[in-house]
Amino acid sequence: MIQLLANTRSKEYPVFLSRGGLADAGRLWSSLGKRGKVVIITDANVAGFHLAAAEASFAAAGLETSTIVVDPGEGAKSLEMVTGLYSRLFVLKTRRRDAVCALGGGVVGDLAGFVASTYMRGIGLMQVPTSLLSQVDSSIGGKTGVNIPEAKNYVGSFYQPDMVLADPALLKTLPRDQLVEGLAEVVKYCLLTGDAFFDNFEIGNQEFLALNTAYVEPVVRRCIEYKLRIVSEDERDYGRRAVLNLGHSVGHGIEVAGGYQRYSHGQAVALGLLAAVRLSQQEFGLPEEYGDRLLSLLELLGLPVRIEGIDPGEVLAAMASDKKADDLSANMVLLKRLGEPVINCDVDAGALRREVERLVAGG
Ligand SMILES: NC(=O)c1ccc[n+]([C@@H]2O[C@H](COP(=O)([O-])OP(=O)(O)OC[C@H]3O[C@@H](n4cnc5c(N)ncnc54)[C@H](O)[C@@H]3O)[C@@H](O)[C@H]2O)c1
Repeated sequence: MIQLLANTRSKEYPVFLSRGGLADAGRLWSSLGKRGKVVIITDANVAGFHLAAAEASFAAAGLETSTIVVDPGEGAKSLEMVTGLYSRLFVLKTRRRDAVCALGGGVVGDLAGFVASTYMRGIGLMQVPTSLLSQVDSSIGGKTGVNIPEAKNYVGSFYQPDMVLADPALLKTLPRDQLVEGLAEVVKYCLLTGDAFFDNFEIGNQEFLALNTAYVEPVVRRCIEYKLRIVSEDERDYGRRAVLNLGHSVGHGIEVAGGYQRYSHGQAVALGLLAAVRLSQQEFGLPEEYGDRLLSLLELLGLPVRIEGIDPGEVLAAMASDKKADDLSANMVLLKRLGEPVINCDVDAGALRREVERLVAGG
C-alpha cells in the first residue's frame, strides 16, 4: 500500500493507493479515529460490482453503514438530486460526526462531495474513486459540485475529503470506453510532468490498456502525485492550478460545439492536447516531434486525432463563451517544454483558428 499526503491550506489528509485496498477501507477509515456512521453514496453500475465489498469492509471495522444508490451518468449531478440526498441523509439520522463515502467515478465523487460539504454545514467525506478519471483526477483536490441546466459544474464547493482510497483493481470492471476516457487525462499528466513519464507511457501504454497492475499502479501514482503538488500550491484555483487545464480550452470548445454528444470529455481533451502541443511549437519552439509522438500515442489508445462533423467556427465560438476562456486570445495553457506548462498564454486568434482547422482537416 502506498500512502501519499495531501497537504492543502484547508486540510491535510492521506491518499491511499492500494490494489485490493477496498477491502481495507473500513480499517483505514477507523485508523483516522472515525467512529460515526458511514453513508455510502454510489451509482447502480458501481454498486453491482463493488458495493458488497465496501459494505463488508466497513462492517468488519465495526462501522455502521447505510447505502444510497443513484442512477449512473452525468444527469445525477443536479440540484434536484442534491435535495433528494439531503432528505435521505436526514431520514437516516445522519449527524455531524457521520460521513459520506463517495464510491464511484467523478459523477458520484462530485455529487456526494458537494452533499457532504453542505449537509449540516459539512460532514466527513471519504473518496473511493472507481473510474480511472476519478482516481487520477477528480477525487483529488477537493472540487465538488453539480450542473445547472445552463452550464456544467457551476454550483459547487472546495471541500477536501478526510481520506482518499484509490484501488486500481476496481478498474478491471470499468468499461473499456471509460478507461480510455481517463487515459486522456493520463496523457495530459505525461505532458505536464515531463520527458521521462511521457517516454515511459509511450512504451507501456498497451500494458496500461491491458490493466497490467504492475504498470498501472506507478502511472496512477505519478498522476496523483502531480495533482497533489499542484493543489497544495493553489487549492482554490487562483493561478497555478490552471496548468491542469492543459488541452481543456480547445477540448471544452469541441465538447460544447458537439452538443456534449459527438465527443466525450476525454475525446475532446485528447484533441485539445494535440492543439495545445502544436500551438506550443509555434509559441515556444517545442520540438515538432512531440506533436507527432502525441498523435501516435492518442491513436494507439483509441482516442481521436481528428474532429469530424463539427465546423471549426463552432468550436471557436464555443471557446469564446467558455468560462475558462473569457478572452479567447489570453487564456490557454501551453508548454515551454515537456514538464514546463505556462498558463495564461496569449495565443493569436489566427493561430488558434489554423490549429482547429487542422484538427478538422486531419493530419
Ligand atoms: N472534481 C474535479 O476536480 C473533477 C475533475 C474532472 C472531472 N470531474 C467530473 O467527473 C465526472 C466524470 O467522471 P467519470 O469519467 O468518472 O464519469 P462517471 O462517474 O460517470 O463514471 C463513468 C461510468 O463508469 C461507471 N463506473 C465507474 N467506475 C466503475 C467501475 N469500477 N466498474 C464499472 N463501472 C464503473 C459509472 O457508473 C459510469 O457509468 C464529470 O462530471 C466531471 O465534471 C470532476
